[in-house]
Amino acid sequence: MSILPVPDTAIIVVAAGSGTRLDGGAPKAFVGIDAHSILRHALDGVFAASPAQVIVVAPPGYEGDAETELREAAGDRVDLGAVVTGGATRQESVAAGLAALWGDVTTVLVHDAARALTPPAVIDAVARAAKDGGVIPTLPVVDTLKKVDADVIAAAVDRAELAAAQTPQGFPRDLLVAAYATARAAGTEYTDDAALFAAAGHRVRVVAGSERGFKITTPADLERARHLLAASAPLLPRVGMGTDVHAFGGDGSLWLAGLEWPGEQALSGHSDGDAVAHAIVDALLGAAGLGDIGQHFGTAHPEYAGAHAEVFLARTRELLAAAGFAIGNVSVQFQGNRPRFSARRGEAERMLSGVLGAPVTVTATTTDGLGFPGRGEGISVMAVALVVPVAPSV
Ligand code: CTP
Ligand code: MG
Repeated sequence: MSILPVPDTAIIVVAAGSGTRLDGGAPKAFVGIDAHSILRHALDGVFAASPAQVIVVAPPGYEGDAETELREAAGDRVDLGAVVTGGATRQESVAAGLAALWGDVTTVLVHDAARALTPPAVIDAVARAAKDGGVIPTLPVVDTLKKVDADVIAAAVDRAELAAAQTPQGFPRDLLVAAYATARAAGTEYTDDAALFAAAGHRVRVVAGSERGFKITTPADLERARHLLAASAPLLPRVGMGTDVHAFGGDGSLWLAGLEWPGEQALSGHSDGDAVAHAIVDALLGAAGLGDIGQHFGTAHPEYAGAHAEVFLARTRELLAAAGFAIGNVSVQFQGNRPRFSARRGEAERMLSGVLGAPVTVTATTTDGLGFPGRGEGISVMAVALVVPVAPSV
């Protein structure tokens, strides 16, 4: 194990609020954005920044859950992390975090877990600037602002003089600890750490914040965070496979690969027995994570009894489109002695590709007399499909 230098910076992540305005069924920090909670995303940002002591301030009773999130975000930096219990107000929660600072720490950042998507670059910029005094990240105000008295405008406000405050807010440790002691003795509550620090007579400077540093407060904010994450997630293609087997023995003529084969023995099945089409449907549904053919077209759906490939494939294409997937291509092969396929390959591929709106290629092989396809009892098919998630609109 390598011995790392003890960091001179600490980041207190306050996560002890109840999240009344979000109303997410759990304390706000533990509400999920995607597969991960608000707290986990906030900690991912913190651990992606330069090494610092990380103190998570958890709601009473949620210390164990906070510890789990901390361990997962920290990876091999877990020794830098600790969880403490928060208080009834944000200010008390910060005070609980300050009490857990390591001796070597000279700079303290206080960060809202609720600003879960704050870029690590903002955290690093604040940490650097805080060596010289109080500093907060801000954004310019874009709205035109008015001072109002009840329902009447009392004055115009020059927005050039204003900035919207974010976190993390950074301070020299000694000055911040002293300012907190003064506020506690006076029993004064401040809206943020910068206000408390300024009230103690210190200057606070600003650095550029980020649009991604918004605070998740309401359900609409949570939606915004979800959209931002979905938009930045890599859109990887997905593969799926499907197989199908049908025995010869149905009535009428053979239907295979979307074509009718007059004079060839039919396959048996709930529908027309087109094992090539059925394998394609399973490959596509599997690739998109949409279940399987039985679920969408099985005996519980009598409207598909006797239906041909066109109907199955057109519906499958619709299901994928509704789930946000485009079809890349499908490759399918069947094993069987009959029909002799090569003469109609082009016709079958054009038909299947037309319905799916993507290239479908079909190959056929015999099995040298082996197994049930070789004995002429039926047909065995395997299909592989590639689908591509379509970028969500933000
Ligand atoms: N916070 C805290 N301890 C408190 C209150 C708030 O640690 N007693 C933290 C929250 O967890 C949040 C940050 O301070 O990360 C900003 O507070 P806010 O957005 O108001 O969160 P909540 O208080 O949880 O939400 P609400 O006011 O809607 O209940
Ligand atoms: Mg609050």
